[in-house]
Amino acid sequence: MGLVKINQISPGMELAEDLRDSRGRFLLPSGVGLTARDIRVLKMWGVVEADIQGIGTDGVEDAATREIAPAVMEMAERTVSMRFRHSGTDHPALQELLRLCILRKAEEMQRRKDEGVESSDKLEGERDSDEIPRMNIDTIDFQRLIQSHILELPTLPMISLKMNETIARPNSSANDIARVISRDTTLSARLLKIVNSAFYRFPSRIDSVSRAVAIIGTKQLTSLASGVAIINMFKNIPSSIIDMKSFWKHSVRCGVHARIIASYHGVQNTERLFLSGLLHDIGRLILYNYAPDQAVYALTKARRTQNLLRGIECEDLEFDHAETGGQLLKRWKLPVLVEDAVRYHHNPWESQNSLEPSIVHLADIMANAVGVGSSGERFVPPLDAGAWEVIGLSANVLEVIMKQADRHTEEIFTFFYSDED
Ligand SMILES: [Fe+2]
Ligand SMILES: [Fe+2]
Repeated sequence: MGLVKINQISPGMELAEDLRDSRGRFLLPSGVGLTARDIRVLKMWGVVEADIQGIGTDGVEDAATREIAPAVMEMAERTVSMRFRHSGTDHPALQELLRLCILRKAEEMQRRKDEGVESSDKLEGERDSDEIPRMNIDTIDFQRLIQSHILELPTLPMISLKMNETIARPNSSANDIARVISRDTTLSARLLKIVNSAFYRFPSRIDSVSRAVAIIGTKQLTSLASGVAIINMFKNIPSSIIDMKSFWKHSVRCGVHARIIASYHGVQNTERLFLSGLLHDIGRLILYNYAPDQAVYALTKARRTQNLLRGIECEDLEFDHAETGGQLLKRWKLPVLVEDAVRYHHNPWESQNSLEPSIVHLADIMANAVGVGSSGERFVPPLDAGAWEVIGLSANVLEVIMKQADRHTEEIFTFFYSDED
């Protein structure tokens, strides 16, 4: 018998053990032969793996690996392994992530090869030849500047302020929130596109903001609306420092991961986790926006020395993007849980309530591992084993999360981010 991932289970396979869901609820007894319908239902219940009779402990081979040329596989392995140089692969979750990312990369490279598309031979994360700028790099005490109100931080878009005010009023109703959102037609149109997307899988079409509020809830919809409003700020950062599209791609991917992980864990307000994931690296935008010289220095040095950007930020600039992000969100009066998840996404154990920071921590690691967009970091940050324990999922769930995120991130991104406004 052996654990087999749900996507690899086929009708006729027999359960070697009783099957339970992630919360321990009994689903099917051992010895049962699975039908196609059983497998569909198990997927709907969020089951990610089952013990199957007659399968070795190595499980079953991924069908896709058989179609990839060995040379392509080797190149994918080399390029993806570079991304994991600072995280290592001692932890079983990182081993699984590395395996999945190699496979994903190899499939992409094989597809390009089959289509005759030239690919660059340069390995990702390889040392670049650009010089580290020679300059006297002053450390910037952003924390002090923010606390003492010397630094003029960007203000939260008016629509988010109004939503927060309305939600904070004890006698406000769902209709009041719907009315505030509806006044902004662009925001309303985007929100409706998001809630009607395949990611949300609502059985019927939601055609008005008031219906969205009724079905999704005021807090969930406000989180989404804040995300849409905030993502289109910071448009003035030059592309020579950071590609903002790539920055938000990384952020949306992290938000999508966080939302899926949260739903597996049984967190009620999954949109709050989406928002936390979306905003997790927003502190970096303060550095890019207010200290462009230091930003270029840190980004170039990280690339040149193949070190983690976060390490250079902390050591050379005494700048902590997670702490700065937390302070910005505090100033914006976003929910404390979002503020904390952002502030502690690299050190979740320091938070009093470590679940949500842990979810964003893992979501960020996964986003860096797949390499979709970047907030400036080119490597996978180290995984905190305690955070993994707090989340309490099986490593096999990572494949399901990644595939769901692969299906939905691009679409969700186009709804959130606009080049035009
Ligand atoms: Fe970060
Ligand atoms: Fe990140």
